[in-house]
Amino acid sequence: MRAWIGAPDGPVLRTVPVPEPAPDEALVRVEAFSVNRGELNLFRRRAEGWRPGQDLAGVVVRAAADGSGPAAGTRVVAMNDFGGWARYTAVPVDRMAVLPDSVGFAESATLGVAGLTALRALRRGGPLDGRRVLITGASGGVGSFAVQLAAARGARVTALTGTRRELDLKELGAEQVIGSLADAEGEFDVILESVGGEVLQSALKMLSPLGHFVLLGTSSGRTATLSISSFVPHARQTLHPFWVFGSGEPVGEDLAELVGLIEQGLLHPVLGAVDGWERLPEVMAALRERRIHGKAALLVDGEV
Ligand SMILES: NC(=O)c1ccc[n+]([C@@H]2O[C@H](COP(=O)([O-])OP(=O)(O)OC[C@H]3O[C@@H](n4cnc5c(N)ncnc54)[C@H](OP(=O)(O)O)[C@@H]3O)[C@@H](O)[C@H]2O)c1
Repeated sequence: MRAWIGAPDGPVLRTVPVPEPAPDEALVRVEAFSVNRGELNLFRRRAEGWRPGQDLAGVVVRAAADGSGPAAGTRVVAMNDFGGWARYTAVPVDRMAVLPDSVGFAESATLGVAGLTALRALRRGGPLDGRRVLITGASGGVGSFAVQLAAARGARVTALTGTRRELDLKELGAEQVIGSLADAEGEFDVILESVGGEVLQSALKMLSPLGHFVLLGTSSGRTATLSISSFVPHARQTLHPFWVFGSGEPVGEDLAELVGLIEQGLLHPVLGAVDGWERLPEVMAALRERRIHGKAALLVDGEV
């Protein structure tokens, strides 16, 4: 089969053996996969030959040998640790959810890292009904999911976006869309921060007395200097360093929750780019250069 393989200058498409699943893994024929900003910088850091790819959707071609999980022929969405940017991949049965026919492969392939990050990061903020929520990096993959999920839970969302003005964040549920935190008014009960640098420092000053600040990324690459004076003197705020991996939350169940929201019309993955999988390097360059809003999906062999 063909698969993208990790090399220092980026992924290369090679022919490799079809993986042999463990007893609790199903063999999935990948129909679409997605790429995340966090994956762009892994290639220089990892040894040549590693197998990239976390977010994917496809069809089970061989059920898990231990009898668990979906049967052959079932459409699924999954989040793997690696190996998803390939024609076939082995997926642990507890890291996949069944896809109804009404939910496409390309849109569901975007759910893994970005969708679960938005879902779980918002959980850190507790009940959202009527709460003021600030989402930075709102036009990106995580942000476009977070705006919708927060709005669906009754939050009053302020979305901070930089360059991707063509994405209508109000249509996704934002009450207010701003291009700078200088335009934000009042305090926020929940803040999801993924830009870093001065955005992080300014956002901290806007946290309400009982607010939750979820720190999940540094898209700008800029660091911030923090001290107690970074906060206004509220005594009961909570700072959550967030990592989607290792959080202990069940991947399959969380993916199923997101699929259910799509089915109900409450969540619409924003597909800023859909392309054939051979064009992965070009799509990665576009993501790096902030030319893609929402998510990018790659269609394997164009058969979707
Ligand atoms: N902790 C975790 O487990 C976890 C999981 C997933 C993602 N993340 C992190 O969360 C962040 C968002 O991920 P994503 O997949 O949503 O990325 P993305 O799709 O590239 O979105 C990033 C957004 O940040 C905005 N941004 C503002 N300043 C930027 C800058 N200087 N450089 C690049 N983007 C800038 C961009 O909006 P404009 O172009 O409109 O300005 C862009 O829409 C990333 O830093 C990622 O590494 C963390």
